[in-house]
Amino acid sequence: MGRIHPAYRGQQVMSAQGVDRKRRRVLVAATSVMGAVGAGYVAVPFLASMNPSAKAKAAGAPVEADISKLEPGALLRVKWRGKPVWVVNRTPEMLAALPTLDSQLLDPASEASKQPPYCKNPQRSIKPEHLVAIGICTHLGCAPTYRPDFAPADLGAEWKGGFFCPCHGSRFDLAGRVYKGVPAPANLEIPKYVYLSDKVILVGEDKGAA
Ligand code: FES
Repeated sequence: MGRIHPAYRGQQVMSAQGVDRKRRRVLVAATSVMGAVGAGYVAVPFLASMNPSAKAKAAGAPVEADISKLEPGALLRVKWRGKPVWVVNRTPEMLAALPTLDSQLLDPASEASKQPPYCKNPQRSIKPEHLVAIGICTHLGCAPTYRPDFAPADLGAEWKGGFFCPCHGSRFDLAGRVYKGVPAPANLEIPKYVYLSDKVILVGEDKGAA
């Protein structure tokens, strides 16, 4: 698979339990940062989701993501067509950071990226607060980690939240846009989706919106 980014050599060799512990530490750190923004601001890593039957999923059916309990700053993961799909509830602070990153990004306007037409906008989403993205690195397919914390020691003072791929060090912002100078050649893919209500997103189907 190639070289492991120095920042993640330690994590790469950790047991599954160790990785969970590391992730928990990251989320605790994220909670501290976000706590400054508002009370009740708790990061919840991965919430359960509603899915159709296993048979329907295998056939590629759309899946419903219940976002009713998705706290600001938290990430929900659902599985669609065997792929991880993330829903992130972006805070006003996270959204404000996005335009400040454009000069550091490879494709800030998502010209060469995969997304439905209704997500080709600065936030790459239907509603600004919700990022819906396929959680697969566009380099060689590893699973990037969610790093919502601002300026963590291992990612540097310029880091304003995003996703970090531990395999070869690719970085993406909180709109799934890839940074310049990393192995990944494109922004994270945005799947088709539609809001069934304020609390439920249907991933994999947009009812003709595209
Ligand atoms: S798979 Fe190589 S950087 Fe993500």
